Amino acid sequence: MRTLIVGAGATGGFFGTRLVRAGRDVSYLVHAHRADQLRHGLRVYGPGYDETVPVRALTARELDGPYDLILLMVKAWSLDAALEDITPAVGPGTTVLPLLNGLVHLQTLNDRLGRDAVLGGIVRVVCTVTPEGSVRQLKPKAGLVFGEQDGGLTERVSAIRQELAVPGYHVTLADDVLVAMWHKWAFIAAGATMTCLMRGSIGSILAAPGGREFVLDVIDETERVARAAGYPPSAAAHAASLEMFTEEGSVFTSSLYRDVLAGHAHEGEHLLGQYVAVADRLGVDVPLTRLALMQLRVHDQNGSRPVGAPTVAVEG
Ligand SMILES: NC(=O)c1ccc[n+]([C@@H]2O[C@H](COP(=O)([O-])OP(=O)(O)OC[C@H]3O[C@@H](n4cnc5c(N)ncnc54)[C@H](OP(=O)(O)O)[C@@H]3O)[C@@H](O)[C@H]2O)c1
Repeated sequence: MRTLIVGAGATGGFFGTRLVRAGRDVSYLVHAHRADQLRHGLRVYGPGYDETVPVRALTARELDGPYDLILLMVKAWSLDAALEDITPAVGPGTTVLPLLNGLVHLQTLNDRLGRDAVLGGIVRVVCTVTPEGSVRQLKPKAGLVFGEQDGGLTERVSAIRQELAVPGYHVTLADDVLVAMWHKWAFIAAGATMTCLMRGSIGSILAAPGGREFVLDVIDETERVARAAGYPPSAAAHAASLEMFTEEGSVFTSSLYRDVLAGHAHEGEHLLGQYVAVADRLGVDVPLTRLALMQLRVHDQNGSRPVGAPTVAVEG
């Protein structure tokens, strides 16, 4: 199966090199500067391993005809340009599997490529790209969940499962992948709302008077949206949120908050903006999520200064 991975960043770099090491026919679509960096391979390291994997990296102009499977592993703000770039790689038999966080991008892909060509999916991993361009896995476990948008275990997803099942992460072929996507989105929206709004870790929020009540209110609010959308969080998903967000002393912050704090581009509109938009459509009141979104928007208006930095120099 010819597979094209769009983006050799944190997630694309990690999952793609697992596939290459297992002998799969994988090419990367990258920008020119990344192609230069990857000329001598992609270094990937994490708990218990450190290796440099030779990879085939192509720029958009070098794309060599249709692929059987395209994995989209870009940030939300890059999606439109990525869809333009993959045009030569998409043929009548191509399946596209987006692995971004969030959910609304599925509609963009369905409109553009036709719903039959598009699967749903998420990855569970904690990876980052180092300043030298290596990919670092920060926590030991990794997983990929995917499936047909309408559910069902078709021949094509069974074949893709076989192709994606390689050492280094766990792959799950989901009968109802939208449930997994919704659960992850609700969880991320909750964590981002808590830490962006309070500008601190879960542990520091819980240590403040009223912090626990705030955390529980955010979980409740974000879960109400998923419920209204027809994807009620399972008991296990709810328990996982409670465990993560009520752990005293936890240093957890959301990756969205860390991006904002570092002055990086962030997926705030994709993850919180779209969440609030869906809540509005469904008539669910989400005052805390809305407030977190508002704070991000004000931050963005002011340029990419870290949250809380003064807008003018303060004397004295
Ligand atoms: N990092 C994690 O641990 C993690 C875990 C779970 C889910 N996710 C989700 O996975 C998605 C991807 O995140 P990420 O962390 O992998 O992002 P990332 O590290 O920023 O990697 C994205 C890569 O895509 C490249 N790219 C963008 N547009 C492209 C194009 N048209 N052609 C070729 N390359 C292109 C970027 O290259 P340039 O820099 O050249 O633009 C970048 O190298 C996000 O939705 C994120 O929320 C991430």
